[in-house]
Amino acid sequence: MPITGKTTVVGLFGDPVAHSLSPQMHNRAFGALGLDWVYVPFHVKAADLAQGVDAIRALGLRGVNVTVPHKAGVMAFLDEVDDEARRVGAVNTIVNRDGRLIGYNTDGQGLVRSLQRQGGRDVAGARVVIVGAGGAAQGIAGSVARAGASSIVIGNRTPNKAETIVAGIKDDVDGEVAAYASDAEAFFDAVAQADIVIQATSLGMHPHHEVPPPPWVKALAPTALVCDIVYNPRETAVVQAARERGCTVVTGEGMLAYQGAVAFELWTGRQAPDQLMLETLQQLLAERS
Ligand code: ATR
Repeated sequence: MPITGKTTVVGLFGDPVAHSLSPQMHNRAFGALGLDWVYVPFHVKAADLAQGVDAIRALGLRGVNVTVPHKAGVMAFLDEVDDEARRVGAVNTIVNRDGRLIGYNTDGQGLVRSLQRQGGRDVAGARVVIVGAGGAAQGIAGSVARAGASSIVIGNRTPNKAETIVAGIKDDVDGEVAAYASDAEAFFDAVAQADIVIQATSLGMHPHHEVPPPPWVKALAPTALVCDIVYNPRETAVVQAARERGCTVVTGEGMLAYQGAVAFELWTGRQAPDQLMLETLQQLLAERS
């Protein structure tokens, strides 16, 4: 679709942005729906972030995605931050509604959609275990709680960080909500009983991917759906160990594709061609490796 005077512009703010696959993923999705929209990467340095956000209004961008290192810092410059993003303390999507800039975080919803679409497993009613207690785990825990998980157990190397997340979600879950050290026997028991296990730490991420699988993988039941949010490499130590145990596996590019799909829907008001977005991302990652 040619860019014209009527083309609607969205984009990405980050530092760096050159490596991002989001422009190709979104532009292909716009093309598939015949939308006269374009997604442009903008390299914005931290010192220029306030002016960058003003430019969304000045240039009439419909919205942007926000990536490292601006996800937390950008919140101070927005007119409104939705509950999910506020809880996580990070915004990955901004929507420009007639000059009012509203921040969202679509990562957790992206993960939940990836479990459903790729893993064929509904979070509603599931016993869920989350490993990790950083920013990613926090967003996922909130979304999984609101999607109706019957119980949520969080394990982390540093257990008090898991306890903080648990305190924030316990009112949203009817059943058990607990935090453990990720090497504790009680955590292994929770893993053994889980329907869905989500690896949400940065363990195994390139270039530190030559790591042994963490001890909790030995507790996985073959009936569990295991998701690793790390997508580079796609076959992490956890993914390999889960496959060996006979588990169904969802790899990390799903969360990336579907968080983009949720952002696409916030901007356009249209249902995203999310399968196409996932396939585009998988193809680009395969070409890169
Ligand atoms: P993100 O925003 O990607 O979640 P983060 O907030 O820095 O990143 O959180 C990183 C997560 O990975 C944390 O849960 C961290 O554990 P700690 O809270 O104990 O630091 C976890 N993590 C990172 N490296 C790890 C490792 N080698 N083994 C186990 N957990 C690790």
